[in-house]
Amino acid sequence: MPLDINSKIKGVIFDLDGVIVDTAKFHFNSWKKIASEWNYELKYNDNEKLKGVSRMDSVLKIAEWAEINLSSEELEHAANRKNEIYTELCAKLTPEHILPGIMSLINQLKANNICIALGSASKNARLVLKKIGLLTLFDVIVDGNDVSKSKPNPEVFIKAAKQMNLLPKNCVVVEDAPAGIIAALSANMKVIGIGKSNELHTANLVIENSKNLSIDLLNQISG
Ligand code: BG6
Ligand code: MG
Repeated sequence: MPLDINSKIKGVIFDLDGVIVDTAKFHFNSWKKIASEWNYELKYNDNEKLKGVSRMDSVLKIAEWAEINLSSEELEHAANRKNEIYTELCAKLTPEHILPGIMSLINQLKANNICIALGSASKNARLVLKKIGLLTLFDVIVDGNDVSKSKPNPEVFIKAAKQMNLLPKNCVVVEDAPAGIIAALSANMKVIGIGKSNELHTANLVIENSKNLSIDLLNQISG
């Protein structure tokens, strides 16, 4: 299906973890290990608050929930250890781990001359994209190395739009995290949430599974 002739959409910005590939569960499992060493059991609801949030902001939140007082060196050490666990888990990623519906949407976007960008909080974004064979596919990549403020701050999406030479109102974001949805909306962009509608209800549209992504959905929210 082609993009609606009246559509304002000229660019689509994809989050990475939990949208393109299910690395959200790797982040969760790695943080769980660190938290358990602090005698804190990291729960599903805690993890929802960590999605889209930078590594250092995440370690600060977990230490606060665990009610543990650590020096900045100790916090940094914990964040580094989490990253070692996380990157070890990522080592086994292959193109087969790309989530359903993603490649077909990207191919439809390319066929319609729509720019595609990555807007991720992760400093490992390029490593993950390389493992799944998508490093050269995006017109623009903005990741955790390029921003100073993590989602829900809109910096990552604003930078991606700028690098595509597009206005925010002509961009749509695809996100799985509540923090990412807030970021997209405050960047003045439309946003499709992938996940549970009760958790992502502020998005312009929510779908449960990425396999349902299509140009048709973009047409629905492009007005
Ligand atoms: C986001 C994840 O994409 O990246 C967060 O949703 C993660 O869970 C953040 O903390 C930072 O990732 P990294 O790879 O730089 O530690
Ligand atoms: Mg995500």
